[in-house]
Amino acid sequence: MKHEQVKIHESAYVSGDAIIGANSSIWNNSQVREGVRIGQNCILGKDVYIDFDVEIGDNVKIQNGALVYHGTRIKSGVFVGPGVIFTNDKKPRSINKDGSLKLSDDWVVGEILVGFGASIGAGAIIVTGVTIGRFAMVGAGAVVTRDVPDHALVVGNPARLIGYVCSCGERLVDTGSGKWVCQSCAETIQITLQ
Ligand SMILES: CC(C)(COP(=O)(O)OP(=O)(O)OC[C@H]1O[C@@H](n2cnc3c(N)ncnc32)[C@H](O)[C@@H]1OP(=O)(O)O)[C@@H](O)C(=O)NCCC(=O)NCCS
Ligand SMILES: [Zn+2]
Repeated sequence: MKHEQVKIHESAYVSGDAIIGANSSIWNNSQVREGVRIGQNCILGKDVYIDFDVEIGDNVKIQNGALVYHGTRIKSGVFVGPGVIFTNDKKPRSINKDGSLKLSDDWVVGEILVGFGASIGAGAIIVTGVTIGRFAMVGAGAVVTRDVPDHALVVGNPARLIGYVCSCGERLVDTGSGKWVCQSCAETIQITLQ
């Protein structure tokens, strides 16, 4: 049977073509479209939209109301806050020059990659064409228009780098020679400044 060991709320719509790993949950009113691949132990909250062919790893949490459009790849361990939007059309137009409706071949789908362990704060918008690095952290309400390095902390519109964070989420402090140390868990991480 398809989607066994997956908890799907009765009000969610999950395509029979979507592949979903064991112990994942999909809550109220969420939609998971055809061709989607979701790993194990993922939690998709309420009113989440996962567009066709989106790829999501294991242990990913996607909070209420997040919109994940076609062209997005989310690696394992990623946190997506409530209301986050991953976009896919950099220069959107509804119509062609002659006024006719654009069809799927009339525009270019952009791509977004979110690296292992990264977190995206509530309400952030990720403009297409960017890579968000491993364990990076995007502040609430940020508009991400450029790549975000591994472990980087970015905030604002447009999102700017204001520091680096540990895998545990706390700030890293520069100890010199590229080594940064976590004030909370003492992990040391090599950072190449951008
Ligand atoms: C970005 C974030 C991780 C920073 O936390 P922090 O390291 O404790 O940073 P601070 O609170 O010390 O703030 C540092 C500076 O950044 C600013 N700042 C913090 N978060 C910001 C944000 N989301 N957008 C813009 N500026 C922000 C602060 O005002 C402060 O500015 P100042 O130095 O001019 O006073 C945190 O504020 C945040 O947005 N977390 C996401 C929370 C979230 O969405 N969770 C989702 C689950 S509900
Ligand atoms: Zn740490």
